[in-house]
Amino acid sequence: MSKPGGNGGVRTVAGATCVVTGGLGFIGANLVHALHRDGATVRVIDALVPTHGGNRRNLEGIDVDVLEARIGDPAVADVLAGADLIFNLAGQVSHTASMTDPLLDLDLNAVDHTRFLEMVRTVSPGARVVHASTRQVYGRVDRLPADELTAASPVDVNGVAKLAGEQMHMVYARAHGLAATSLRLSNVYGPRQRLTSDELGFLPVFVRRALLGETIRIFGDGRQERDCLHVDDVIGALLAATADRAVARVYNVGNRNGHPLSTIARLILEAAGNDRPVEFVPWPDDHQRIDIGSFKTDSSRIADELGWTSSIEIDAGIKQTIGFYQESSWYLSST
Ligand SMILES: NC(=O)c1ccc[n+]([C@@H]2O[C@H](COP(=O)([O-])OP(=O)(O)OC[C@H]3O[C@@H](n4cnc5c(N)ncnc54)[C@H](O)[C@@H]3O)[C@@H](O)[C@H]2O)c1
Repeated sequence: MSKPGGNGGVRTVAGATCVVTGGLGFIGANLVHALHRDGATVRVIDALVPTHGGNRRNLEGIDVDVLEARIGDPAVADVLAGADLIFNLAGQVSHTASMTDPLLDLDLNAVDHTRFLEMVRTVSPGARVVHASTRQVYGRVDRLPADELTAASPVDVNGVAKLAGEQMHMVYARAHGLAATSLRLSNVYGPRQRLTSDELGFLPVFVRRALLGETIRIFGDGRQERDCLHVDDVIGALLAATADRAVARVYNVGNRNGHPLSTIARLILEAAGNDRPVEFVPWPDDHQRIDIGSFKTDSSRIADELGWTSSIEIDAGIKQTIGFYQESSWYLSST
């Protein structure tokens, strides 16, 4: 996975000191495992925010230092000292939680990130920073696929707060010379995701229900499309984004192929050996108010500039994911 220096300036992982914020969560933990396997020294910062996906068991068996703190905490400065690569993945994912507690979402996704960037520019101004943004910043889009020139028009507080955090990285890149990049990720699935919450997107809910032998319920008619990304593809994109060319740039990161939710649900049930039917149920009010309809990402900018494209098709990715949880069944009960 690590790439030699000289490959468009993509940073070498082996021997590098890497900081991963949100490293006890789903995407962060998968990245920490990958960096550790490739010979990096990894430091993790994670506040283990209640209801989020963080869990110390996600990093069981590997030797990394973990600071349990919000990324805006002054203690974070010590962890940043000497960092070569900073993957800033801490954040709240839940759209509905952002509507019930908007100020917390702004704190976690925007204010903390501003405090964090202030520390980065003071303590490790030469570090390479890659931030996880989201396709949620676009909101409901009429013309699909959506490229980066599509106007950002979020439908919920989470989209606004993530956009603020993302754009703060761009301001620090342009005005302060920080080598920062932000990736607008599509819906991500794979191992090490918290399955027991209904707040972290539809994919972990579908996986949990399929594995427990339950039906999968879809709000609406199931025709809304998503281009779901396996977490290993996300890790490839995070590493590709360490290239020199990517500094001060925002990139969409989605799957080349999208599918209706009904197809995704059926693939998950099939992989789990669950022959219950998919159920279509009326939209709950709190979800319908912030629904974005179908979404399809245009990821041609990152393909053209950094050479990244998704490589894991949903059927293979789902089979691998279900196999992981069948081996690690604590994910079905852990809170
Ligand atoms: N999972 C997806 O489908 C998806 C899609 C688009 C973008 N993203 C972004 O990717 C990042 C990681 O998402 P995930 O799915 O791994 O979520 P997750 O909930 O599994 O992990 C996020 C981790 O960040 C920690 N955290 C949150 N805010 C923090 C803060 N201010 N300070 C310190 N720790 C904090 C939480 O405790 C948690 O462990 C997030 O920024 C999210 O917005 C995720």
